[in-house]
Amino acid sequence: MKSNIKIILVAGARPNFMKIAPLMDELYGKKNFNPVLVHTGQHYDEKMSDLFFKQLGIPEPDINLEVGSASHAVQTARIMERFEKVCVDEKPDAVLVVGDVNSTAACVLVASKLQIKTIHYEAGLRSNDRSMPEEINRMVTDAICDIFFTTSVDADENLINEGKKQEKIFMVGNLMIDSLVNNIKIARDLNVEIIGQNGKNYVLGQDIRAGQYGVMTFHRPSNVDKNEDLEKLLDVWGMISKKITLFFPIHPRTLKNIKAFGLEKRIESFPNLILCEPVGYLEFLKLVSESKFVLTDSGGIQEETTYLNIPCLTIRSNTERPVTIWEGSNKLIKTQDVEDEIDLILKGKGKKGKTPKFWDGKSANRIVKILEKLIKNERFYSNNI
Ligand code: UD1
Ligand code: UDP
Repeated sequence: MKSNIKIILVAGARPNFMKIAPLMDELYGKKNFNPVLVHTGQHYDEKMSDLFFKQLGIPEPDINLEVGSASHAVQTARIMERFEKVCVDEKPDAVLVVGDVNSTAACVLVASKLQIKTIHYEAGLRSNDRSMPEEINRMVTDAICDIFFTTSVDADENLINEGKKQEKIFMVGNLMIDSLVNNIKIARDLNVEIIGQNGKNYVLGQDIRAGQYGVMTFHRPSNVDKNEDLEKLLDVWGMISKKITLFFPIHPRTLKNIKAFGLEKRIESFPNLILCEPVGYLEFLKLVSESKFVLTDSGGIQEETTYLNIPCLTIRSNTERPVTIWEGSNKLIKTQDVEDEIDLILKGKGKKGKTPKFWDGKSANRIVKILEKLIKNERFYSNNI
């Protein structure tokens, strides 16, 4: 049995950072573990990456692969090529990946073929929609991973139905909620100023009061990559902003497409739609926690709103996170139903829910305890587990 496990943790894109932060925190200072943080560089803008490291107190990555943006195949290939060299040089005992982005699948493929133990946090989520690039990443990752940490029981069921052994699956709750629990007080105490289009400043709680606005994010290719889909959404945003102020921290993919389709002028004409750059994690937490509702297509934000019990309208035809619907405050809706749903929320009849099991801020602790047990088990090093 080894006494010190070298474990590479992989982070690449914005939603990975909130999941990695509590894990790094928990692993640091544990004498059994030597954690090595690899940033693939899939996201690289200050406001999509560095800001999160600062706000969440994540240590500087030990290695940055600096892959940047490219087509799926090129980005995945670049990550694989550069990550293989890292694995060969570092000789880790295990590689831990989170979520469902290209960095997740690319690094698991590399590590598996080098016969390094692989661990997936957020395993087993399925939208059953292969037109989502993330669904392919989830399936590929879970097909070859050794150990599965899940956020909800439906994910366990999906893995069992796909033939995984129960002994490899651990339902540990939600690391994103660990980050939320660790930071909500700091976020609430923060003075948040949002700089909207035309450089106008909005001080939260002063210029716009708590509960008097909604928050939006959109970045799914199925919503924002085609002109016709984006135009339909624009109609919706315009309609809502006539009823209530809407904050819209815009994802770079979406901004790029708005510009490419020549929709900037129209979006700027909506008087109560406050368009701004992506905001930091703390600012976003405060913005959401004091909002009347959230309109989104994000995965992580469906979970955060469930924990905060803020009505969330998700404009997608499916979700890999059904627990946020069964138990939480999330609803899947179509664009044509948004107006009715917003009217309900404005009348105080928005969906409320409860917190799913183990979404309690202690998931990183559970994961590290399980890893400590696993590394004491000889079978962990053989091909039996
Ligand atoms: C990626 C993930 C998606 C996740 C999202 C979180 C994949 C397949 N997709 O989507 O699952 O929900 O991150 O935000 O892994 N760009 C910048 N600056 C950056 C990063 C991206 O300008 O720092 C622009 C580039 O023009 C790039 C585009 O955004 O081409 C898309 O970036 P990419 O990482 O390919 O996909 P996301 O849409 O961000
Ligand atoms: N987020 C943020 N600033 C923003 C928008 C989102 O900090 O301007 C955070 C949000 O709180 C959540 C995460 O980003 O923790 C979700 O990431 P994203 O929506 O990009 O990806 P997804 O979860 O859809 O993969």
